[in-house]
Amino acid sequence: MSSPFLDQLSYGGDYNPEQWSREVWLEDVKLMKEANVNLVTLGVFAWANIEVADGKYEFGWLDEIFDLLHENGIGVDLATATASPPAWLTRKWPEVLPVTNQGVRHSHGGRQAYCVSSPIYKQKAADLAGRLAERYSKHPALKMWHVNNEYGCHNPLCFCDQSEIAWRSWLKLRYSNLDELNRAWGTNFWSQKYHDWEEINVPAETPAGTYPNPSMFLDFRRFSHYQILDLYRAEKDQIRKFDSSTPITTNFMSMKHSGNLNYWDWANEVDFVATDHYLNAEDPKNYIDLAFQADLTRGFAQGKPWLLMEHSTSAVNWQQRNIAKSHGEMIANSMSHIARGSNGAMFFQWRQSISGSEKFHSAMFPHAGRKSRIWRSVVELGKQIHDLGNLSKTQTQRAQVAMIFDYESWWALSQMNLPSTSISYPELAHDWYRALWELGVRVDFVSPNSLLEDLNAYELVLAPMQYLMSDSQEQVLSNYVANGKNLISSYFTGISNEDDSIKTGGYGGKLATDVIGIHVEEFAPARSNEFVELSNGYKATEWSQFAEATTANVLAKFSSGEASGSAAIVRSRSANAWYIGTRLDDASCRQFFDSVIGELRLAREGGDGVEVVRRGRTKFLINHNTNQVSWEE
Ligand code: GAL
Repeated sequence: MSSPFLDQLSYGGDYNPEQWSREVWLEDVKLMKEANVNLVTLGVFAWANIEVADGKYEFGWLDEIFDLLHENGIGVDLATATASPPAWLTRKWPEVLPVTNQGVRHSHGGRQAYCVSSPIYKQKAADLAGRLAERYSKHPALKMWHVNNEYGCHNPLCFCDQSEIAWRSWLKLRYSNLDELNRAWGTNFWSQKYHDWEEINVPAETPAGTYPNPSMFLDFRRFSHYQILDLYRAEKDQIRKFDSSTPITTNFMSMKHSGNLNYWDWANEVDFVATDHYLNAEDPKNYIDLAFQADLTRGFAQGKPWLLMEHSTSAVNWQQRNIAKSHGEMIANSMSHIARGSNGAMFFQWRQSISGSEKFHSAMFPHAGRKSRIWRSVVELGKQIHDLGNLSKTQTQRAQVAMIFDYESWWALSQMNLPSTSISYPELAHDWYRALWELGVRVDFVSPNSLLEDLNAYELVLAPMQYLMSDSQEQVLSNYVANGKNLISSYFTGISNEDDSIKTGGYGGKLATDVIGIHVEEFAPARSNEFVELSNGYKATEWSQFAEATTANVLAKFSSGEASGSAAIVRSRSANAWYIGTRLDDASCRQFFDSVIGELRLAREGGDGVEVVRRGRTKFLINHNTNQVSWEE
C-alpha cells in the first residue's frame, strides 16, 4: 500500500474545530502554516456533532474544514469519531454503557462510555466509520484514517450481561469442552468446577479478601483484548468498503502505566503503527521512560517507521501536579521520538480548549496566544522537522540487545495473591532498560512469541520477569542459548505456563533448571523498605529466594535476610546465560549490566544524560542535562 505517511515527516496535532467559530478556523490555518503544520487529526470526539440523532448526519461543517485545510496545504488524519458515543445513543440504548466489577453502570458524560462487547455500539460505530469513508475517501486532504482513539484506555473490561454472553461464546471457541476449561483454570479448587457453560460468569468482585480464579481472570483479560480488537476490525472493514488505499491506523498507548492491550497483536492489524506518549512529569529522568516507549513502539512496527500521534507541548491536566515542560524539553522529546523511528511529532492538541475538562492541558496554540514560549517553541520545532527532509524513509539503526516485552505476563502479575504486592512487571523491565540507557546501550523490543531466527539477530536477549512461559517460548530461549547467544533472565521468570499453572520441580521451569542451572526452592520476598544485601556489595530490594546453583556459577549470594547464603546472581556453566534473582537498585543494576556489556563488547554511544541515536545517515545527539556539554566524536 502506498502511504503518504512515508513521504514526509508529519507535524501537527488533534484539531477540534467543533469547539471554535469560523473566524478562529481562518486564524488557525494561518497559524498552522506559520508553524509548518502539515497534518491534523480531525473529529476524534465529534460523534455528537456529526451524527446529531440516530442516522441523522451533519457533515456540512466537516466538509468546510476539510476544504479549508486542503486549500492551505494541510493534510487530514480523519478520526472515525467513535471514541465517545453521543448522549442520544446511550439514552436510547443504556445497555451500551459499561459496568464495573462491582456491578455499577457508568453514566454518560465522560468518554469511552461503552461496553466493549456491546453489539449496538459495535454496529453504530462501524456505521459511522462507513459513512465517513463514503463521504471523504476521495477528498484530496485525506492522508490517513484514525480509528477510535486510544482503545481500552478507560473501558478495558466490562462486567455487564452482554459481556457475559460474549465471554461464554469466546470460551467455547478457546476450549473445545468444559473438561479442557476446568483443567486450564484448575477449578478443582474452592468448588469452582463448571458443569455447564451457563454457570460461567464474568470474574466480577468476589467476597472481601477473596479474588476470582487467576487463570480465569487472565483469560478474561485476553477475551476483553480481543473484543476491543474486533471493534477496531469492524470499523476498519467498513472503511475498506469505500476506501481501498488510504492507510488505516489507531493510536496505541504503549506507555508504562497502560498495559490493557497486547499491542503485538494490534501491530498486525494496522497499516502503520501509531502511539501516544505522555511523560510522568515528576520523574526527573522521564526522558528514559520516553525512550523505552519509543523503542517498544518501534518493536511493534518491526523496525519500520511509526508515528507519534500525540504528546504534549507542556503540562497535561491529569497528573497530581501538572508540571510545565522546561525550556527546550518539548523539542528534545519530539526529536527523541523521531530519532527512534517516529515519522513526525503530533500533539494533543492544536488549540487549547477554553471549556471542558482538558482546558488546562497545554496545546500547540496556548491560551496566551502568540506571545508565549510554547508558541515560539512550536514554530521552532516545525522548522526543525521541516529541515529534517528525507528522514521519513529511513529506519533507526537496529540494536544489539533485545528485551522481550510480554503483556500477558503483565496481566497475570496484575492480580492479587502473589508472593508480594511490591513486584511489578513494568518496573523491572524499566529498571533494566534504564541501566542500559545510562550506559549508552540501545535496546530493541521483541515479542515473547518471537521465533528463533528473530532472536538470532541479537547478541543479547533480556527476559525480565517473564512470569508466563509456554513450552514453545521456553524452547526458543533454550535454543537461542544453545546457539551460543546470550540471555539474561530474572526472578519470577518462567514460573507458570500459559494457563498460569505453576511449573514444579524448582521454580523457573527448564529455563532455570536446565539452561541456567539453578534450583529455586522457595521465595523470600523482602519487607517493605527492606534492603537486601548481596555478597558482591550490590544492594537490592523487593525479592530474595532460597536457591542453589546446580550447574551454574554463583556470581553473588544473598548476604542478608531470610535467604542469606542462597544464590542471588548466577551464570550458566556455558557462560552465556545469566540469572538475577532479585531487584537490584539502580547503581547495582548499572554495574551488573556494565560488566556484561563490557565483556560481550557490545556497542555503546552516549550516556551521562546524552542520548545518541542513529537513524539512516542522521545522528541525533540530545542533551538531557541542564548544562551544556561538548561531545567528541
Ligand atoms: C490522551 C487522549 C487525548 C487527550 C490526552 C490528554 O489520552 O487520547 O484525547 O485526552 O490524552 O493528555
